[in-house]
Amino acid sequence: MSATANPTPAHRPVPIRQTQLFIGGQWTPARSGRSFATVNPATEERIADVAEGDAADVDAAVRAAREAFETGPWSRMDARQRGRLMDRLCDLIEAEIDELAALESLDNGKPFADSRTIDIPLAIECLRYYAGWADKIQGATIPINGNYFCYTRREPVGVVGQVIPWNFPILMIAWKWGPALAAGCTIVMKPAEQTPLSCLRLARLAQKAGIPDGVINVVPGYGPTAGAAIVKHPGIDKIAFTGSGETARIIMRQASETLKRLSFELGGKSPNIVFADADLDAAVAGAHLGIHLNQGQCCCAGSRLFVEDSIHDAVVERVVELSRKRRVGDPFHPDTEQGPQIDKAQFDKIMSYIEAGKREGANCATGGKRHGTKGFFIEPTVFTGVADSMSIAREEIFGPVLSVLRFSDTDELIRRANATDFGLAAAVWTRDVARAHDVARRLRAGTVWVNCYDVFDAAAPFGGFKQSGFGRELGERGLDAYLETKTVTLSLSPPGQA
Ligand code: NAI
Ligand code: MG
Repeated sequence: MSATANPTPAHRPVPIRQTQLFIGGQWTPARSGRSFATVNPATEERIADVAEGDAADVDAAVRAAREAFETGPWSRMDARQRGRLMDRLCDLIEAEIDELAALESLDNGKPFADSRTIDIPLAIECLRYYAGWADKIQGATIPINGNYFCYTRREPVGVVGQVIPWNFPILMIAWKWGPALAAGCTIVMKPAEQTPLSCLRLARLAQKAGIPDGVINVVPGYGPTAGAAIVKHPGIDKIAFTGSGETARIIMRQASETLKRLSFELGGKSPNIVFADADLDAAVAGAHLGIHLNQGQCCCAGSRLFVEDSIHDAVVERVVELSRKRRVGDPFHPDTEQGPQIDKAQFDKIMSYIEAGKREGANCATGGKRHGTKGFFIEPTVFTGVADSMSIAREEIFGPVLSVLRFSDTDELIRRANATDFGLAAAVWTRDVARAHDVARRLRAGTVWVNCYDVFDAAAPFGGFKQSGFGRELGERGLDAYLETKTVTLSLSPPGQA
Protein backbone atom coordinates (compact mmCIF):
# COMPACT_ATOMS: atom_id res chain seq x y z
CA MET A 1 0.00 0.00 0.00
CA SER A 2 1.43 3.31 -0.92
CA ALA A 3 0.00 6.72 -1.54
CA THR A 4 1.37 10.20 -1.20
CA ALA A 5 -0.39 13.00 0.59
CA ASN A 6 0.71 16.52 -0.07
CA PRO A 7 -1.43 18.76 2.11
CA THR A 8 -0.40 22.12 0.68
CA PRO A 9 2.05 22.91 -2.07
CA ALA A 10 4.50 24.22 0.51
CA HIS A 11 4.94 20.82 2.09
CA ARG A 12 7.26 18.12 1.07
CA PRO A 13 5.32 14.92 0.37
CA VAL A 14 4.91 12.43 3.18
CA PRO A 15 4.68 8.82 2.04
CA ILE A 16 1.77 6.90 3.52
CA ARG A 17 3.11 3.38 3.52
CA GLN A 18 0.74 1.44 5.78
CA THR A 19 -3.05 1.73 5.88
CA GLN A 20 -4.16 -1.83 6.68
CA LEU A 21 -4.58 -3.75 9.90
CA PHE A 22 -1.46 -5.43 11.29
CA ILE A 23 -2.35 -8.85 12.68
CA GLY A 24 0.02 -11.74 13.29
CA GLY A 25 2.69 -10.03 11.20
CA GLN A 26 0.38 -9.70 8.17
CA TRP A 27 -1.12 -6.59 6.62
CA THR A 28 -4.77 -7.22 5.98
CA PRO A 29 -7.93 -5.31 5.11
CA ALA A 30 -10.73 -5.28 7.68
CA ARG A 31 -12.83 -8.45 7.55
CA SER A 32 -15.86 -6.23 6.96
CA GLY A 33 -14.10 -4.58 4.01
CA ARG A 34 -14.69 -1.19 5.62
CA SER A 35 -12.29 1.69 5.87
CA PHE A 36 -12.36 5.22 7.27
CA ALA A 37 -10.70 8.46 6.27
CA THR A 38 -7.99 10.02 8.39
CA VAL A 39 -7.94 13.79 7.98
CA ASN A 40 -5.27 16.49 8.09
CA PRO A 41 -6.57 18.88 10.77
CA ALA A 42 -4.65 21.81 9.27
CA THR A 43 -6.51 21.58 5.96
CA GLU A 44 -9.55 19.42 6.78
CA GLU A 45 -8.58 17.30 3.78
CA ARG A 46 -8.51 13.51 3.68
CA ILE A 47 -4.99 12.06 3.93
CA ALA A 48 -5.73 8.37 3.37
CA ASP A 49 -8.33 5.68 3.96
CA VAL A 50 -7.40 3.25 6.70
CA ALA A 51 -8.84 -0.21 7.29
CA GLU A 52 -11.55 -0.02 9.95
CA GLY A 53 -11.23 -2.91 12.37
CA ASP A 54 -14.11 -4.24 14.44
CA ALA A 55 -14.85 -7.21 16.69
CA ALA A 56 -13.93 -9.85 14.08
CA ASP A 57 -10.53 -8.27 13.47
CA VAL A 58 -9.90 -7.82 17.18
CA ASP A 59 -10.66 -11.50 17.65
CA ALA A 60 -8.06 -12.42 15.02
CA ALA A 61 -5.55 -10.06 16.65
CA VAL A 62 -6.17 -11.58 20.07
CA ARG A 63 -5.62 -15.08 18.67
CA ALA A 64 -2.32 -13.99 17.14
CA ALA A 65 -1.24 -12.28 20.37
CA ARG A 66 -2.29 -15.27 22.45
CA GLU A 67 -0.30 -17.66 20.28
CA ALA A 68 2.78 -15.42 20.40
CA PHE A 69 2.43 -15.27 24.17
CA GLU A 70 1.77 -18.94 24.89
CA THR A 71 3.70 -20.88 22.27
CA GLY A 72 5.52 -18.48 19.96
CA PRO A 73 9.16 -17.37 20.00
CA TRP A 74 8.33 -14.48 22.36
CA SER A 75 7.43 -16.83 25.20
CA ARG A 76 10.76 -18.68 24.85
CA MET A 77 12.99 -15.71 24.13
CA ASP A 78 15.69 -14.66 26.59
CA ALA A 79 14.79 -11.45 28.36
CA ARG A 80 18.03 -9.83 27.21
CA GLN A 81 17.16 -10.59 23.60
CA ARG A 82 13.78 -8.89 24.04
CA GLY A 83 15.65 -5.81 25.18
CA ARG A 84 17.94 -5.98 22.14
CA LEU A 85 14.97 -6.09 19.76
CA MET A 86 13.47 -3.05 21.46
CA ASP A 87 16.76 -1.22 21.03
CA ARG A 88 16.81 -2.20 17.38
CA LEU A 89 13.33 -0.74 16.98
CA CYS A 90 14.70 2.51 18.42
CA ASP A 91 17.55 2.47 15.90
CA LEU A 92 15.02 2.17 13.08
CA ILE A 93 12.91 5.00 14.50
CA GLU A 94 16.02 7.18 14.70
CA ALA A 95 16.94 6.32 11.13
CA GLU A 96 13.66 7.68 9.79
CA ILE A 97 12.87 10.29 12.40
CA ASP A 98 12.20 13.02 9.82
CA GLU A 99 9.70 10.95 7.91
CA LEU A 100 7.99 9.80 11.11
CA ALA A 101 7.81 13.33 12.45
CA ALA A 102 6.24 14.49 9.20
CA LEU A 103 3.71 11.65 9.29
CA GLU A 104 2.83 12.50 12.89
CA SER A 105 2.37 16.18 12.14
CA LEU A 106 0.35 15.47 9.01
CA ASP A 107 -2.11 13.24 10.88
CA ASN A 108 -2.19 15.17 14.17
CA GLY A 109 -1.53 18.80 13.17
CA LYS A 110 1.17 19.41 15.79
CA PRO A 111 4.13 21.50 14.65
CA PHE A 112 6.70 19.40 12.80
CA ALA A 113 9.39 20.86 15.05
CA ASP A 114 7.56 19.51 18.12
CA SER A 115 7.17 16.03 16.63
CA ARG A 116 10.83 16.05 15.62
CA THR A 117 12.35 17.44 18.81
CA ILE A 118 9.88 16.54 21.59
CA ASP A 119 7.52 13.66 20.84
CA ILE A 120 9.78 11.27 18.99
CA PRO A 121 12.94 11.79 21.08
CA LEU A 122 10.87 11.18 24.23
CA ALA A 123 9.38 8.07 22.65
CA ILE A 124 12.82 6.72 21.78
CA GLU A 125 14.06 7.47 25.28
CA CYS A 126 11.10 5.62 26.77
CA LEU A 127 11.57 2.53 24.61
CA ARG A 128 15.31 2.45 25.31
CA TYR A 129 14.70 2.89 29.03
CA TYR A 130 12.36 -0.11 29.09
CA ALA A 131 14.66 -2.11 26.81
CA GLY A 132 17.11 -1.82 29.69
CA TRP A 133 14.54 -3.24 32.12
CA ALA A 134 13.84 -6.39 30.10
CA ASP A 135 16.53 -8.45 31.87
CA LYS A 136 16.20 -6.73 35.25
CA ILE A 137 12.72 -7.81 36.23
CA GLN A 138 13.20 -10.13 39.15
CA GLY A 139 11.50 -11.55 42.19
CA ALA A 140 12.66 -12.07 45.76
CA THR A 141 13.43 -14.88 48.15
CA ILE A 142 11.24 -14.67 51.22
CA PRO A 143 11.99 -16.05 54.71
CA ILE A 144 8.62 -17.62 55.53
CA ASN A 145 7.93 -19.67 58.66
CA GLY A 146 8.73 -23.39 58.59
CA ASN A 147 11.09 -25.49 56.57
CA TYR A 148 10.35 -23.98 53.19
CA PHE A 149 12.07 -22.20 50.39
CA CYS A 150 9.84 -19.38 49.18
CA TYR A 151 10.46 -17.09 46.26
CA THR A 152 8.53 -14.84 43.92
CA ARG A 153 8.64 -14.62 40.15
CA ARG A 154 7.44 -11.60 38.23
CA GLU A 155 5.67 -12.88 35.15
CA PRO A 156 4.03 -11.06 32.25
CA VAL A 157 0.32 -10.45 32.73
CA GLY A 158 -0.36 -11.93 29.29
CA VAL A 159 -2.11 -10.42 26.29
CA VAL A 160 -2.70 -6.72 26.81
CA GLY A 161 -5.20 -4.46 25.07
CA GLN A 162 -3.89 -0.93 24.68
CA VAL A 163 -6.23 1.89 23.67
CA ILE A 164 -4.59 5.25 23.10
CA PRO A 165 -5.63 8.81 22.22
CA TRP A 166 -4.63 11.16 19.42
CA ASN A 167 -2.80 13.92 21.29
CA PHE A 168 0.67 12.28 21.41
CA PRO A 169 0.30 9.23 19.17
CA ILE A 170 3.93 8.06 18.94
CA LEU A 171 4.74 8.95 22.52
CA MET A 172 1.69 7.08 23.83
CA ILE A 173 2.74 4.05 21.78
CA ALA A 174 6.16 4.12 23.46
CA TRP A 175 4.62 4.51 26.94
CA LYS A 176 2.43 1.48 26.24
CA TRP A 177 4.75 -0.79 24.26
CA GLY A 178 7.86 -0.12 26.36
CA PRO A 179 6.80 -1.71 29.66
CA ALA A 180 4.60 -4.33 27.97
CA LEU A 181 7.42 -5.64 25.77
CA ALA A 182 9.98 -5.48 28.56
CA ALA A 183 7.65 -7.53 30.75
CA GLY A 184 7.15 -10.13 28.01
CA CYS A 185 3.51 -9.37 27.24
CA THR A 186 1.97 -9.40 23.76
CA ILE A 187 -0.14 -6.55 22.49
CA VAL A 188 -3.35 -5.67 20.70
CA MET A 189 -3.31 -1.91 20.19
CA LYS A 190 -6.02 0.39 18.96
CA PRO A 191 -4.73 3.82 17.98
CA ALA A 192 -7.20 6.71 18.02
CA GLU A 193 -9.35 6.98 14.91
CA GLN A 194 -7.98 10.51 14.35
CA THR A 195 -4.33 9.39 14.20
CA PRO A 196 -3.76 5.82 13.03
CA LEU A 197 -0.86 6.39 10.64
CA SER A 198 2.21 6.61 12.88
CA CYS A 199 1.09 3.53 14.84
CA LEU A 200 0.92 1.46 11.65
CA ARG A 201 4.33 2.77 10.64
CA LEU A 202 5.83 1.82 14.01
CA ALA A 203 4.33 -1.66 13.73
CA ARG A 204 6.18 -2.05 10.43
CA LEU A 205 9.42 -0.91 12.07
CA ALA A 206 8.89 -3.34 14.95
CA GLN A 207 8.57 -6.16 12.44
CA LYS A 208 11.71 -4.96 10.64
CA ALA A 209 13.52 -4.89 13.98
CA GLY A 210 12.76 -8.59 14.41
CA ILE A 211 10.04 -8.45 17.03
CA PRO A 212 8.23 -11.71 16.26
CA ASP A 213 4.90 -11.80 14.46
CA GLY A 214 1.91 -11.66 16.77
CA VAL A 215 3.74 -9.80 19.55
CA ILE A 216 2.42 -6.43 18.38
CA ASN A 217 -0.93 -6.27 16.59
CA VAL A 218 -2.55 -3.00 15.51
CA VAL A 219 -6.26 -2.67 14.85
CA PRO A 220 -7.28 0.86 13.90
CA GLY A 221 -10.98 1.63 14.26
CA TYR A 222 -13.53 3.40 16.42
CA GLY A 223 -13.98 3.20 20.18
CA PRO A 224 -17.46 1.71 20.46
CA THR A 225 -16.60 -1.03 17.93
CA ALA A 226 -12.89 -1.96 17.85
CA GLY A 227 -12.16 -0.44 21.28
CA ALA A 228 -15.12 -2.09 22.99
CA ALA A 229 -14.23 -5.44 21.39
CA ILE A 230 -10.76 -5.24 22.96
CA VAL A 231 -12.27 -4.35 26.33
CA LYS A 232 -14.73 -7.26 26.25
CA HIS A 233 -12.55 -9.96 24.71
CA PRO A 234 -12.01 -12.86 27.13
CA GLY A 235 -8.61 -13.55 25.57
CA ILE A 236 -7.23 -10.23 26.80
CA ASP A 237 -5.86 -10.09 30.33
CA LYS A 238 -5.38 -6.39 30.85
CA ILE A 239 -6.42 -3.03 29.44
CA ALA A 240 -4.16 0.00 29.43
CA PHE A 241 -6.09 3.10 28.43
CA THR A 242 -5.30 6.77 28.01
CA GLY A 243 -8.16 9.14 27.21
CA SER A 244 -11.29 10.65 28.71
CA GLY A 245 -12.85 9.79 32.05
CA GLU A 246 -16.13 9.27 30.25
CA THR A 247 -14.67 6.47 28.14
CA ALA A 248 -12.77 5.08 31.13
CA ARG A 249 -16.09 4.65 32.97
CA ILE A 250 -17.52 2.68 30.03
CA ILE A 251 -14.36 0.57 29.87
CA MET A 252 -14.47 -0.16 33.57
CA ARG A 253 -18.07 -1.33 33.36
CA GLN A 254 -17.45 -3.48 30.29
CA ALA A 255 -14.17 -4.92 31.59
CA SER A 256 -15.87 -5.98 34.81
CA GLU A 257 -17.44 -8.97 33.01
CA THR A 258 -14.02 -10.55 32.54
CA LEU A 259 -12.38 -8.87 35.55
CA LYS A 260 -9.56 -7.45 33.49
CA ARG A 261 -6.71 -5.62 35.08
CA LEU A 262 -6.99 -1.91 34.29
CA SER A 263 -4.59 0.97 34.15
CA PHE A 264 -5.94 4.38 33.23
CA GLU A 265 -4.32 7.70 32.46
CA LEU A 266 -7.10 10.27 32.22
CA GLY A 267 -7.63 13.98 32.27
CA GLY A 268 -6.81 16.86 34.52
CA LYS A 269 -7.42 20.44 35.54
CA SER A 270 -3.97 21.02 36.85
CA PRO A 271 -3.17 24.01 39.08
CA ASN A 272 -0.09 26.02 38.18
CA ILE A 273 0.70 28.20 41.18
CA VAL A 274 2.84 31.34 41.11
CA PHE A 275 3.92 32.89 44.43
CA ALA A 276 5.07 36.49 44.58
CA ASP A 277 8.67 35.48 45.34
CA ALA A 278 9.00 33.39 42.17
CA ASP A 279 11.43 34.01 39.34
CA LEU A 280 8.78 35.72 37.24
CA ASP A 281 10.51 35.25 33.88
CA ALA A 282 10.57 31.52 34.43
CA ALA A 283 7.07 31.39 35.90
CA VAL A 284 5.53 33.34 33.02
CA ALA A 285 7.26 31.13 30.47
CA GLY A 286 6.10 28.06 32.41
CA ALA A 287 2.53 29.32 32.57
CA HIS A 288 2.55 29.87 28.81
CA LEU A 289 4.09 26.52 27.91
CA GLY A 290 2.06 24.76 30.59
CA ILE A 291 -1.21 25.62 28.90
CA HIS A 292 -0.35 25.99 25.22
CA LEU A 293 2.03 23.10 24.55
CA ASN A 294 0.52 20.74 21.98
CA GLN A 295 -2.36 23.16 21.26
CA GLY A 296 -3.46 22.72 24.87
CA GLN A 297 -4.21 19.07 24.19
CA CYS A 298 -2.28 17.74 27.19
CA CYS A 299 -3.73 15.70 30.01
CA CYS A 300 -1.41 17.56 32.37
CA ALA A 301 -2.04 21.06 30.94
CA GLY A 302 -1.64 23.78 33.58
CA SER A 303 -5.12 25.09 32.86
CA ARG A 304 -5.72 26.84 36.21
CA LEU A 305 -3.09 29.51 36.75
CA PHE A 306 -3.21 30.67 40.38
CA VAL A 307 -1.32 33.93 40.83
CA GLU A 308 -0.61 35.61 44.17
CA ASP A 309 -2.41 38.94 44.51
CA SER A 310 0.58 41.28 44.62
CA ILE A 311 1.99 40.08 41.28
CA HIS A 312 -1.30 39.21 39.60
CA ASP A 313 -1.51 42.11 37.16
CA ALA A 314 2.15 41.93 36.14
CA VAL A 315 1.95 38.19 35.48
CA VAL A 316 -1.32 38.50 33.58
CA GLU A 317 0.10 41.23 31.38
CA ARG A 318 3.08 39.10 30.42
CA VAL A 319 1.15 35.86 29.95
CA VAL A 320 -1.34 37.66 27.72
CA GLU A 321 1.51 39.19 25.74
CA LEU A 322 3.09 35.77 25.13
CA SER A 323 -0.23 34.29 24.06
CA ARG A 324 -0.81 37.16 21.68
CA LYS A 325 2.60 36.65 20.09
CA ARG A 326 2.31 32.87 19.76
CA ARG A 327 2.62 31.92 16.11
CA VAL A 328 -0.37 29.86 15.00
CA GLY A 329 -0.50 28.24 11.59
CA ASP A 330 0.87 25.69 9.18
CA PRO A 331 2.43 22.88 11.26
CA PHE A 332 5.17 22.50 8.65
CA HIS A 333 6.27 26.14 8.71
CA PRO A 334 9.51 26.32 10.71
CA ASP A 335 8.28 29.31 12.76
CA THR A 336 4.99 27.75 13.78
CA GLU A 337 4.46 27.23 17.52
CA GLN A 338 0.82 26.16 17.47
CA GLY A 339 -1.09 24.05 14.96
CA PRO A 340 -4.78 23.17 14.70
CA GLN A 341 -6.87 21.23 17.21
CA ILE A 342 -7.29 17.60 16.28
CA ASP A 343 -10.80 17.65 14.80
CA LYS A 344 -14.14 19.41 14.51
CA ALA A 345 -15.51 17.80 17.66
CA GLN A 346 -12.61 19.09 19.79
CA PHE A 347 -12.74 22.48 18.04
CA ASP A 348 -16.45 22.79 18.84
CA LYS A 349 -15.96 21.64 22.44
CA ILE A 350 -13.24 24.26 23.03
CA MET A 351 -15.22 27.06 21.36
CA SER A 352 -18.23 26.22 23.51
CA TYR A 353 -16.08 26.53 26.66
CA ILE A 354 -14.84 29.90 25.42
CA GLU A 355 -18.46 31.00 24.98
CA ALA A 356 -19.31 29.66 28.44
CA GLY A 357 -16.40 31.59 29.96
CA LYS A 358 -17.69 34.83 28.46
CA ARG A 359 -21.28 34.06 29.44
CA GLU A 360 -20.32 33.23 33.01
CA GLY A 361 -18.60 36.58 33.37
CA ALA A 362 -14.87 35.93 32.92
CA ASN A 363 -12.81 38.46 31.00
CA CYS A 364 -11.38 37.17 27.72
CA ALA A 365 -8.05 39.03 27.81
CA THR A 366 -6.78 37.67 24.51
CA GLY A 367 -7.84 35.16 21.86
CA GLY A 368 -11.25 33.57 22.03
CA LYS A 369 -11.76 33.16 18.30
CA ARG A 370 -11.12 30.77 15.48
CA HIS A 371 -7.85 31.43 13.68
CA GLY A 372 -8.25 31.57 9.90
CA THR A 373 -11.03 30.00 7.87
CA LYS A 374 -9.65 26.54 7.11
CA GLY A 375 -8.39 23.95 9.55
CA PHE A 376 -9.31 23.61 13.24
CA PHE A 377 -7.16 26.50 14.52
CA ILE A 378 -8.03 28.40 17.70
CA GLU A 379 -6.34 31.55 18.98
CA PRO A 380 -4.35 31.14 22.20
CA THR A 381 -6.86 32.31 24.78
CA VAL A 382 -6.47 33.73 28.29
CA PHE A 383 -9.34 34.38 30.67
CA THR A 384 -8.84 36.60 33.71
CA GLY A 385 -11.23 37.32 36.55
CA VAL A 386 -12.15 33.63 36.64
CA ALA A 387 -14.12 32.32 39.61
CA ASP A 388 -13.58 28.75 40.88
CA SER A 389 -17.22 27.93 40.17
CA MET A 390 -17.08 28.72 36.45
CA SER A 391 -17.05 25.81 34.01
CA ILE A 392 -13.75 27.02 32.51
CA ALA A 393 -12.18 26.63 35.98
CA ARG A 394 -13.69 23.22 36.70
CA GLU A 395 -13.82 21.17 33.49
CA GLU A 396 -11.10 19.89 31.20
CA ILE A 397 -11.15 22.02 28.03
CA PHE A 398 -8.26 20.28 26.28
CA GLY A 399 -7.40 23.32 24.22
CA PRO A 400 -5.37 26.55 24.30
CA VAL A 401 -7.52 28.20 26.95
CA LEU A 402 -6.04 29.43 30.23
CA SER A 403 -8.03 30.43 33.30
CA VAL A 404 -6.24 32.86 35.62
CA LEU A 405 -7.30 32.88 39.28
CA ARG A 406 -5.90 34.99 42.10
CA PHE A 407 -5.00 34.03 45.66
CA SER A 408 -3.60 35.56 48.82
CA ASP A 409 -3.56 32.93 51.56
CA THR A 410 -1.63 29.64 51.16
CA ASP A 411 -4.03 27.38 53.09
CA GLU A 412 -6.94 28.73 51.10
CA LEU A 413 -4.95 28.28 47.91
CA ILE A 414 -4.27 24.60 48.65
CA ARG A 415 -7.93 23.98 49.38
CA ARG A 416 -8.95 25.57 46.06
CA ALA A 417 -6.20 23.86 44.07
CA ASN A 418 -7.35 20.48 45.43
CA ALA A 419 -11.06 21.21 44.98
CA THR A 420 -11.34 19.13 41.82
CA ASP A 421 -12.09 15.50 40.98
CA PHE A 422 -8.83 15.43 39.03
CA GLY A 423 -5.33 14.95 40.40
CA LEU A 424 -2.89 14.48 37.56
CA ALA A 425 -0.33 17.27 37.84
CA ALA A 426 0.43 20.58 39.52
CA ALA A 427 3.22 23.11 39.61
CA VAL A 428 4.49 25.65 42.08
CA TRP A 429 6.78 28.60 41.43
CA THR A 430 8.62 30.04 44.44
CA ARG A 431 12.16 30.73 45.67
CA ASP A 432 11.27 29.56 49.18
CA VAL A 433 12.51 25.97 49.50
CA ALA A 434 10.40 25.11 52.54
CA ARG A 435 7.27 26.44 50.90
CA ALA A 436 8.03 24.53 47.69
CA HIS A 437 8.21 21.21 49.54
CA ASP A 438 5.27 22.02 51.79
CA VAL A 439 2.99 22.87 48.87
CA ALA A 440 4.25 19.88 46.86
CA ARG A 441 3.33 17.61 49.78
CA ARG A 442 -0.14 19.09 50.22
CA LEU A 443 -1.22 19.05 46.56
CA ARG A 444 -3.25 15.93 45.67
CA ALA A 445 -1.65 15.17 42.33
CA GLY A 446 0.49 12.44 40.80
CA THR A 447 3.16 14.86 39.61
CA VAL A 448 4.25 18.18 41.11
CA TRP A 449 6.71 20.33 39.23
CA VAL A 450 8.62 22.99 41.18
CA ASN A 451 9.93 25.93 39.17
CA CYS A 452 9.40 23.99 35.95
CA TYR A 453 6.55 22.50 33.92
CA ASP A 454 6.07 19.51 31.61
CA VAL A 455 9.39 17.95 32.53
CA PHE A 456 9.05 14.29 31.54
CA ASP A 457 11.57 11.53 31.88
CA ALA A 458 11.13 7.84 31.14
CA ALA A 459 12.51 7.02 34.59
CA ALA A 460 10.02 9.18 36.54
CA PRO A 461 6.54 7.71 37.19
CA PHE A 462 3.54 9.59 35.84
CA GLY A 463 -0.15 9.10 36.60
CA GLY A 464 -3.16 10.36 38.44
CA PHE A 465 -4.61 10.70 41.90
CA LYS A 466 -8.42 10.67 42.16
CA GLN A 467 -10.30 10.58 38.84
CA SER A 468 -7.17 11.22 36.80
CA GLY A 469 -6.43 7.51 36.65
CA PHE A 470 -5.14 4.36 38.25
CA GLY A 471 -1.64 3.04 38.18
CA ARG A 472 1.52 4.72 36.99
CA GLU A 473 3.28 4.81 33.67
CA LEU A 474 7.04 5.26 33.20
CA GLY A 475 9.79 4.37 35.61
CA GLU A 476 10.00 1.09 37.50
CA ARG A 477 6.41 1.59 38.70
CA GLY A 478 5.28 1.54 35.09
CA LEU A 479 6.20 -2.14 34.87
CA ASP A 480 3.76 -3.09 37.63
CA ALA A 481 0.76 -2.86 35.34
CA TYR A 482 2.25 -5.53 33.08
CA LEU A 483 3.42 -8.02 35.68
CA GLU A 484 1.85 -10.65 37.88
CA THR A 485 3.64 -11.81 41.01
CA LYS A 486 3.84 -15.55 41.47
CA THR A 487 4.80 -17.01 44.86
CA VAL A 488 6.53 -20.39 44.76
CA THR A 489 6.82 -22.30 48.04
CA LEU A 490 8.87 -25.46 48.19
CA SER A 491 9.09 -27.84 51.13
CA LEU A 492 12.65 -28.50 52.26
CA SER A 493 11.63 -31.40 54.54
CA PRO A 494 13.14 -34.74 53.64
CA PRO A 495 10.67 -37.29 52.17
CA GLY A 496 8.33 -38.74 54.83
CA GLN A 497 8.78 -35.82 57.25
CA ALA A 498 6.47 -33.20 55.67
P1 NAI B 1 -11.83 9.16 24.18
O1 NAI B 1 -11.48 8.78 25.56
O2 NAI B 1 -13.23 8.89 23.73
O3 NAI B 1 -10.83 8.44 23.14
C1 NAI B 1 -9.57 7.90 23.49
C2 NAI B 1 -9.43 6.52 22.88
O4 NAI B 1 -10.46 5.67 23.39
C3 NAI B 1 -9.59 6.48 21.36
O5 NAI B 1 -8.74 5.50 20.82
C4 NAI B 1 -11.04 6.04 21.19
O6 NAI B 1 -11.32 5.41 19.95
C5 NAI B 1 -11.17 5.05 22.34
N1 NAI B 1 -12.54 4.79 22.77
C6 NAI B 1 -13.62 5.60 22.71
N2 NAI B 1 -14.72 4.98 23.18
C7 NAI B 1 -14.32 3.73 23.56
C8 NAI B 1 -15.01 2.59 24.11
N3 NAI B 1 -16.31 2.62 24.37
N4 NAI B 1 -14.30 1.48 24.38
C9 NAI B 1 -12.97 1.44 24.13
N5 NAI B 1 -12.28 2.46 23.58
C10 NAI B 1 -12.95 3.60 23.30
O7 NAI B 1 -11.48 10.70 24.00
P2 NAI B 1 -11.92 11.69 22.82
O8 NAI B 1 -13.37 11.47 22.51
O9 NAI B 1 -10.95 11.60 21.72
O10 NAI B 1 -11.73 13.10 23.54
C11 NAI B 1 -12.69 13.56 24.49
C12 NAI B 1 -12.03 14.26 25.63
O11 NAI B 1 -11.23 13.35 26.35
C13 NAI B 1 -11.05 15.36 25.25
O12 NAI B 1 -11.70 16.57 24.99
C14 NAI B 1 -10.19 15.43 26.46
O13 NAI B 1 -10.82 16.20 27.46
C15 NAI B 1 -10.10 14.00 26.92
N6 NAI B 1 -8.88 13.34 26.45
C16 NAI B 1 -7.87 13.12 27.34
C17 NAI B 1 -6.69 12.56 26.91
C18 NAI B 1 -5.56 12.33 27.85
O14 NAI B 1 -4.42 12.33 27.44
N7 NAI B 1 -5.80 12.06 29.11
C19 NAI B 1 -6.45 12.21 25.51
C20 NAI B 1 -7.59 12.42 24.66
C21 NAI B 1 -8.74 12.97 25.13
MG1 MG C 1 -14.83 9.93 22.58
